[in-house]
Amino acid sequence: MREIGVGLLGFGTIGAGVVAGLRKNGDLIAERVKARLVLRGIADIDLDRDRGVAADPALLTRDAAGVIRDPAIDIIVELIGGARIAGDFIRQSLEAGKPVVTANKALLAEQGEEIFGLAERANTDLYFEGSVGGTIPVIKAIREGLVANRIEAITGILNGTCNYILTRMDRQGMPFDAALQDAQARGYAEAEPSLDVDGRDTAHKAVLLASLACGSVVPMSAASIEGIRAITQEDIRNALEIEHRIKLLAFIAPRDREMEVRVHPTLVPLSSLLASVHDVFNAVQVKGDLSGETLYYGCGAGRDPTAGAVIADVVDIARNIVAGCHRRVPAVSVKPRDMTFLRIEETDNRYYVRVPLASGRNLAQKVRALLAARGVPVASVERKRGGGAAEPSAIAITETVKEKTLNAALAELSARDWVRAPVARIRFQT
Ligand code: HSE
Repeated sequence: MREIGVGLLGFGTIGAGVVAGLRKNGDLIAERVKARLVLRGIADIDLDRDRGVAADPALLTRDAAGVIRDPAIDIIVELIGGARIAGDFIRQSLEAGKPVVTANKALLAEQGEEIFGLAERANTDLYFEGSVGGTIPVIKAIREGLVANRIEAITGILNGTCNYILTRMDRQGMPFDAALQDAQARGYAEAEPSLDVDGRDTAHKAVLLASLACGSVVPMSAASIEGIRAITQEDIRNALEIEHRIKLLAFIAPRDREMEVRVHPTLVPLSSLLASVHDVFNAVQVKGDLSGETLYYGCGAGRDPTAGAVIADVVDIARNIVAGCHRRVPAVSVKPRDMTFLRIEETDNRYYVRVPLASGRNLAQKVRALLAARGVPVASVERKRGGGAAEPSAIAITETVKEKTLNAALAELSARDWVRAPVARIRFQT
């Protein structure tokens, strides 16, 4: 049987998963591809650490450039992560005309124009399924399954770590920090977990989906980003009382000449499918003009699920090699688009507003009066104890209002001497 050489750059959590997955299902994959995927080099700076998976010591090397140059290696799999070193190796591979599989969402989102442009000019395959939604084949769904559609909206839970933290806070009342440590111990979090909890990792994935939806690179500057650090137990309990759950959502709405890309904690109705996505799971709803709503669900992070997506990309490229073609399904185009990106301040939303109150009388009424005077239509305001010995808050629910109008009112509220801490607000799902 024909052999196709694979070189792995980065023997970390997902890299170890790729080695384990190829070993476990190598025969099955060979049967499906009509060629055997043979790992011919594994490059990492640390060759001693036990990854819980046996790799042939003869394959291990610190010389990543040597792996890229090796004529017996047909496909490079980059799983180093981070932008700098990984970016250099991806460039070297593409420039050498060697197809690349990567799960490096940060690099592709931050430097998409350059990297996708390079793949286009080199006429070489660049696959990146593992970079969005862990094991979920959502990139394949958009690029292939929904290719006949104009994409109208994408809404998703795209970060396993944040969903895991919010689930633990919700179900077990776990403090934020303990839930994050737990997610790290399970191998879900980024090396720099602020990328997860501050929403940037979700935004990386969102701009990649946005790029696929509109067919050309969307820059990171298009995205409005807010993470989950400010979410409290009080917010989670209050949300449940009004039959909602707080989820970190990405929302992408491509229109003719305008696009909205935003990432923020969102109040999702308990009746919605996304409210039932727990733990490390991700889910992505994609609405096409022909298909209507479609939904993709699966494990959003972790070794084996993500390795499965990476190996599927290797298989796609291997199939191209077997068929003697390349770029059968091109990566994202870099041709410029006549498109503007809607800032979140200009969007209209409904909001949950938490106003931490100092002592005083009639403060909930004062909150209502100030919001109304500043043009924020208020559906309800309620004074609540935070639970235990916690200080009270006023919880206001607004009708639909422009975000910048709300922000101006909240800045005024926060400056009142009867407000003891900055006011928090969470958007309802639109
Ligand atoms: N840190 C990421 C997450 C890994 O938790 O979703 C998968 O992209």
